[in-house]
Amino acid sequence: MPMIVDRIVDRIGQLCVMPAHEGKPQRGEYLGDLGLIQNAAVAMLHGRIVAVGEREAVLAAYSPNAITDAEGRLVTPGLVDPHTHMVWAGDRAAELEQRINGATYMEINAAGGGINRTVRETRAATLESLINQTAPRLLRALQHGTTTLECKTGYGLNTATEITLLNAIALLDMEQRIDLVPTFMGAHDIPPEFAEDSDGYVDLIVNEMIPKVAVWKAELYPGILYCDVFCEQGAFSVAQTERIFEMARMAGMTPRLHADEFAALGGVPLAVAAGARSVDHLLVTPVDQVRLLAASETIATLLPATPFGLGITNTAPARALIEAGAVVALGTDCNPGTAWCENMQFVLALAARNLGMTPAQSLAAATINAAFAVDRGDQVGSIEVGKKADLVLWDAEDYRFLAYRFGGNLAHTVIKDGEIAYQS
Ligand code: NIG
Ligand code: FE
Repeated sequence: MPMIVDRIVDRIGQLCVMPAHEGKPQRGEYLGDLGLIQNAAVAMLHGRIVAVGEREAVLAAYSPNAITDAEGRLVTPGLVDPHTHMVWAGDRAAELEQRINGATYMEINAAGGGINRTVRETRAATLESLINQTAPRLLRALQHGTTTLECKTGYGLNTATEITLLNAIALLDMEQRIDLVPTFMGAHDIPPEFAEDSDGYVDLIVNEMIPKVAVWKAELYPGILYCDVFCEQGAFSVAQTERIFEMARMAGMTPRLHADEFAALGGVPLAVAAGARSVDHLLVTPVDQVRLLAASETIATLLPATPFGLGITNTAPARALIEAGAVVALGTDCNPGTAWCENMQFVLALAARNLGMTPAQSLAAATINAAFAVDRGDQVGSIEVGKKADLVLWDAEDYRFLAYRFGGNLAHTVIKDGEIAYQS
């Protein structure tokens, strides 16, 4: 007697399993392991994957309540976006013009625009308004194939608003189909009231914000909570970042880091020494730090939509990182200043052209490796038995199309927790 399941996705032309490598991310020569199965089917029950394989075998063993006919399409795991700043109020369209007219991102920031402009608008917004402005962004990410998404605070920069942003993330996670992974980023920038006293702001983070966030976590959020810092000239120094990480670890949070986006301050050695889950951007990382990262478990999250959004030609040393054996993930960095992009497909297209990553490598970086970058490598990121039934049916027959075509949406059907969450 075949076992009854909720759904079978049948007639999959090309199934990319994107398997974990011995329970770990794909790295070195294993990066780009598609785990390809032709003429495949996937069976799911109670939102989990119960069988994956050639369709004859799956159909013989399982009897579905619903069949989704993939009609020969490519199917991959739901994409995982491990780096976003999704919750903000307002926009910064005017800064694109300012940059075209010659101002740099950090000049605009120093003049009170940039992150601090979004901070002003975010502080003035209600929780309800923040949720209403963020929800369509999350929906757009889901409609483009992202089923798990990391989301940072960091446009509050005072204790009350940072907690409001954490609440917004928690509420949106409950309301929306997409799964959200929260990160506290009180150290996103120096707020105006501390413009002349960045150490004073670090004191506030360490003595007030992190303890309050720890209480929030204890009361409301049982999962892993990350603490991210913008380690950058004009933002937080290495010493300030170390102070923040030390307190964050004591409060039970896991560090992750923005490093080497504009200036190389030594963020990579700091992240590795702190056991950060990931170190992100790496546009100007010195070559001798590539090996250090490769020898660690810290994931290099590359964000090629950011230099694209800024109109600069710097690129992360993706090929050197991959050759040295570092774990590489890809994310959007979705934010109102440098990269308002909810679409991971566009990131795959950029990675293939600007980072020299193959379509298979970039797909692994946007699925299984990105899942490990948010500590969910055992739950999502690959189509393996026991994992969440999060998968995307693409309007393509071959995985290379995801990096090859760009500018539109190739997602045909998005299945989240075993249910159809979007269909084109
Ligand atoms: O990753 N660098 C800091 N954070 C974002 C930009 C945020 C903003 O400009 O609002 C980034 O690029
Ligand atoms: Fe960022």
